[in-house]
Amino acid sequence: MYSKFKLFLFYLLTADLKSTYSTILSGFIALLIVFIFVLVGIFIYTKSAIKQVDSIKKTEVFQVPDSNFTHVWTAPSDWRMMYLTDSQKELVLYGRELIAHTSDYLGPKGSVRFMSNGMNCQNCHLNAGTQPWGNNYFAVESTYPKFRARSGTNENQIKRVNDCFERSLNGLALDSTSREMRAILAYIKWLGTDVEKKVAPKGSGIYKLKLMKRASDPKKGEAVYLAKCQSCHQADGAGILAATGKSYTYPPLWGKNSYNVGAGLFRISNFAGYVKYNMPQGTTYEKPQLSDEEAWDVAAYVNSMPRPAKDLSRDWPDISKKPFDHPFGPYTDSFSENQHKYGPYGPIKEFYK
Ligand code: HEC
Ligand code: HEC
Repeated sequence: MYSKFKLFLFYLLTADLKSTYSTILSGFIALLIVFIFVLVGIFIYTKSAIKQVDSIKKTEVFQVPDSNFTHVWTAPSDWRMMYLTDSQKELVLYGRELIAHTSDYLGPKGSVRFMSNGMNCQNCHLNAGTQPWGNNYFAVESTYPKFRARSGTNENQIKRVNDCFERSLNGLALDSTSREMRAILAYIKWLGTDVEKKVAPKGSGIYKLKLMKRASDPKKGEAVYLAKCQSCHQADGAGILAATGKSYTYPPLWGKNSYNVGAGLFRISNFAGYVKYNMPQGTTYEKPQLSDEEAWDVAAYVNSMPRPAKDLSRDWPDISKKPFDHPFGPYTDSFSENQHKYGPYGPIKEFYK
């Protein structure tokens, strides 16, 4: 009887143990599965959370701004002219008028003298030379006279202003004692009010774009031109004359009435930096519409088109001082005129380091 009971007990025990084992095992497996699910869940969640944070970062309003485009210099307000004498004020205002409407006075149908191509200084020096990164005159009063390697001389403002008359406006020099020259100088001095001597304030002149690794490409630039410039500057690059016939509604970009090959804009880096932050019309440094590549390529296209010549034989008396993108040899390096004109500029800059 007793042994039978023992057997029974044993049976019970082992049966129970067996089921306990399997309960533990299946419990363990179940736990493992839950654990894996939780892990996968956490993984998926964190991944999507990271993605979300990334997209928030991308649309972040308070990105660290590029300091080249904050707190840029601006022109003195007009009300401050009340501190000028009447004759000073008159001269400054005439100077501004001449910059904005040059051709009405000094163009092919000008009321003072015929000495330039119909363009206005303002066509390139936007808002009468006051637009930040719009080729303004803020650094002129503070930095001239200065040595310029192009002429190899110490240049005063009269020489610099006449450079643009003779090159950008493909015309003649303005008499240094004329009322017109005195007015332009007075206006430039006015714009330089408050600018520290020798300092070029932030946003003055033309922005220097980062160089591309490749050469700029006139072919790609043509496509940019068709899409984004032609509507105003026209298919033949000749622009559109205003109804008065005295100046341009849309100034020419090439051809006989455009700037000549000695002008600053004929250098592709200047052209690219100018259009990047100022064209198509209405663009400013705060809202550029062209990518850097588009700016370089359209610069290459426009500057590959025909334009007036200019005797440059007396420029750059020290040829080693020619800028990297000066398109005319001889050079002290062995890069071709073509590479100097279109790039890639990296190797040229490297050579002169
Ligand atoms: C076709 C375009 C164009 C026109 C038109 C033009 N300029 Fe310029 N001007 C330039 C460029 C480009 C520079 C050189 C900018 C640089 O090198 O940073 C320049 C530079 C200057 C500078 C020196 C600026 C500095 O900070 O050193 C003065 C002054 C100037 N121009 C005056 C004039 C005057 C006055 C007129 C009208 C008679 C005129 N420009 C018309 C393109 C033009
Ligand atoms: C909506 C019309 C319009 C479009 C589009 C336009 N421009 Fe202009 N552009 C102008 C006007 C107007 C001026 C003269 C600005 C002034 O006098 O205030 C000008 C001036 C210029 C100048 C300096 C003056 C000159 O004739 O040399 C250059 C260079 C220039 N534009 C290049 C371009 C390029 C490159 C594009 C295309 C990416 C472009 N523009 C698109 C209207 C336009």
